[in-house]
Amino acid sequence: GAVVALVPAAGRGVRLGESVPKAFVPIGGSPMVRYAVEGLIASGAVDRIIVMVPAEFVESAVALLPPSDSVHVVVGGAERIDSVRAGLAAAPEAAYYLVHDAARALTPPDLIARVVTELRAGHLAVVPALPVADTIKSVDAAGAVTGTPDRAGLRAIQTPQGFAAGLLRSAYLAEGVQATDDAGLVELLGAQVRTIPGDPLAFKITTPLDLVLADAVLDGASA
Ligand code: CTP
Ligand code: MG
Repeated sequence: GAVVALVPAAGRGVRLGESVPKAFVPIGGSPMVRYAVEGLIASGAVDRIIVMVPAEFVESAVALLPPSDSVHVVVGGAERIDSVRAGLAAAPEAAYYLVHDAARALTPPDLIARVVTELRAGHLAVVPALPVADTIKSVDAAGAVTGTPDRAGLRAIQTPQGFAAGLLRSAYLAEGVQATDDAGLVELLGAQVRTIPGDPLAFKITTPLDLVLADAVLDGASA
């Protein structure tokens, strides 16, 4: 069955604070979204790629992405969830979906291939996970600590997140649902989500400090 990667790239990048939407901010001289798409292609595990961008960036996205019959650009939405919905609508033929943030531009192709291997082995939902380095606490509205979950049982979750197509479509059929990642929506359906080891290079470029890190990684790679 076909593996279709949906690449949310329609965010504004408010926390990064650059003058163009985050996916179009250059790292090592090229826009982030180009690295993300090139990584998916290099994995050899993806049949088609749908990139969701802000409406006024469709033309520039088409111009900067690798020219390929299997790479398509569509208009995203106001929230990430709306962007993923737009991607789903553009790829009804998928047997498996990967949802992969453009902001995780340096994700190693090997991680992408490992997610697909798990899907093809029959797992319905697969996410990359890393141990958390910080202690995580819950707090109330006033900032008072209400608890400290055991860190050993916590993971930081990355993308690509992989799903059997029917499961992800069902998760997105529900209206008005909220989750901070795609697996969160699938969990609301009661489905099992499998974790596999993530990769530090799959970090999400969110803040100006992350941009410094991405540039340094690329500078080191070309040195
Ligand atoms: N995204 C999207 N559509 C949206 C919002 C986000 O496709 N309406 C994408 C972003 O482009 C990014 C990924 O989802 O690749 C993860 O989102 P995030 O890191 O939060 O990016 P932004 O929303 O752009 O950043 P910020 O929240 O700081 O504005
Ligand atoms: Mg955001």
